[in-house]
Amino acid sequence: MAWRKILSEEYNLPERVSIFDTTLRDGEQTPGVALKPEEKLEIAMQLDRLGVDVIEAGFPITSKGEWKAVSEICKLGLSARICALARCEKNDIDAAVDAGVDWVHLFLATSDIHLKHKLRMTREQALEKIREAVEYAKSRGVVVHYSAEDATRTEHDFLMRALKVAADAGADSLDIPDTVGFAVPAAIHRIVSSAKRVTGKPIAVHCHDDMGLAVANSLSAVEAGAEIIHATVNGIGERAGNASLEEIVVALHVLYGVKTNVNLREIYRTSRLVAKLTRVWVPKNKAIVGENAFSHESGIHVHGILGSPETYEPIAPETVGRRRRIVAGKHSGIHAIDFLLKEYGIDVDRAKAKEVLEKVKTIGDMGARVPDAKLKTIVEEVVGKSNGKRSISLEELSIVSNMNGSVARISLKIGDESFTAESFGRSPVVASLSALLSALSRKMNVRLIDFRLDATSYSPDLTCEAEVVLSVDDSSESFGEAVGHDPAFVSVAAVISGIEKAMLHSVGG
Ligand code: KIV
Ligand code: ZN
Repeated sequence: MAWRKILSEEYNLPERVSIFDTTLRDGEQTPGVALKPEEKLEIAMQLDRLGVDVIEAGFPITSKGEWKAVSEICKLGLSARICALARCEKNDIDAAVDAGVDWVHLFLATSDIHLKHKLRMTREQALEKIREAVEYAKSRGVVVHYSAEDATRTEHDFLMRALKVAADAGADSLDIPDTVGFAVPAAIHRIVSSAKRVTGKPIAVHCHDDMGLAVANSLSAVEAGAEIIHATVNGIGERAGNASLEEIVVALHVLYGVKTNVNLREIYRTSRLVAKLTRVWVPKNKAIVGENAFSHESGIHVHGILGSPETYEPIAPETVGRRRRIVAGKHSGIHAIDFLLKEYGIDVDRAKAKEVLEKVKTIGDMGARVPDAKLKTIVEEVVGKSNGKRSISLEELSIVSNMNGSVARISLKIGDESFTAESFGRSPVVASLSALLSALSRKMNVRLIDFRLDATSYSPDLTCEAEVVLSVDDSSESFGEAVGHDPAFVSVAAVISGIEKAMLHSVGG
């Protein structure tokens, strides 16, 4: 890889960088996010599977629930070191240490803006407070990580003095937060280089994304020799968020050849879990974990990808636990249609495939998406309805709702077998999905692994999109999607399309 040589000539890159994950602390500070203790535990266990080196589990002094969650995470016996945040106050440090953490992350701001308007302290008073807090935390037998909050807006020489005071007081590593995302890569490079020289300790950076530079700034820190990088899954965090863990880690492994302990294959699973529990949805076009990151629609790209994925993919999707998607739409070419029909197990001649393509393009020209379920309808229009053993037809879905919940009744046909069920759920979507799974349970065991429903806007034309990952009778994972106007119908259609694909690809399918 051409860049690797340039990078290794230009910089003295470390062989390995430690990932300090702060999803459960700074990530949870995202406006509107509050995780229950059991959700924090679930994320902590997945972060450990992901292989981060340090999990910042929370800020224990904040509330009893927070203290308990941090303490429970400490008891899980994870491989990652568990850290908690503390101000330079005895009570904060005691709360963190008593929760059972390995690391305490102390912070005190050093910029004149914070000293004057928030802390109302002189620089000398700040230095004294840092020294006392680090010494006290060390006396309690933990690893001490000191952050000079708002470091990038701190006068350079004073920042170096603060970091040196912390280092001399016994801090094990020092962090440079770009608290309001105000730095540029060259500035971070300079600050990290000086901090390494002045303190002789491992240096971390903690970057925020206010200017969209958090990942670039974090990578610049590595170029300058930083050994620890703070990041959050999906880049969640205060305001515009923190540096995205997945983007930094993949860039380090793939572009820089710098290792981390992260198992890249666990990245997507972790991203989905964090999105689900925090309800902070990942934009479709987000690098690595966005829905479109490995999706292809345009004819030229699909043709290239089907020849060799290298043409239009920087890395194989499986590397980060994902799968490639070929999407039908306005920009599709005949290769995409051939591929998708094959996926559906449908064998048609070129003329019919072209007819399908024309219909797909007509729908695309009207500004609509063509998900799997729609493609199936088009194919049925062109080649006739398949009533095969692996095609499910929805005969009826009726829903009755009131303030307490909904009852859905569903009837389906697979080949000439009929299946009917009725279920209650707290919403029309849940009742319908539950009726669907219950109706099918006589024939197969469907496991919903991941489910997402988006309603794009409120208007008479409300558009919903559902996506699902599922398995049938322990088959490998299958993806289904649908688009339409009614959330319950769209959800059911997405699950049916996923099941049909799973049945097609099952042994003998
Ligand atoms: O952004 C920040 O400065 C922080 C500190 C607590 C490290 O989150
Ligand atoms: Zn922060």
